Amino acid sequence: MPKVTYVYDDGSEHTVEVAVATSLMRAALRNQVSGIVGECGGAATCGTCHVYLDHSTEQFAPPSGDEDEMLEWTAAPRAANSRLSCQLVPTDEGAHLVVRVPAEQV
Ligand code: FES
Repeated sequence: MPKVTYVYDDGSEHTVEVAVATSLMRAALRNQVSGIVGECGGAATCGTCHVYLDHSTEQFAPPSGDEDEMLEWTAAPRAANSRLSCQLVPTDEGAHLVVRVPAEQV
């Protein structure tokens, strides 16, 4: 099962296992990972699931047009590795992802 480590500004971490084909946003909500809001339910229209993708053994496609546009409106500044966690869906059983959670989402 893919693993995701969510890292916070204070250095603390929360690692969870994610069912294949489940987004990092859904995995966060199901596992009470703080800092991920997911207000729009994964439609890429709220930006409250913003993360910085620091490391991944899984290759993801670049952001779609909708995700790219929404990343311009996130509460925390956009970086080159910014992604919407609702759009990151691991498919590799052995994947391990590390994402940093911004200090603010709204
Ligand atoms: S949950 Fe709204 S943009 Fe990801």
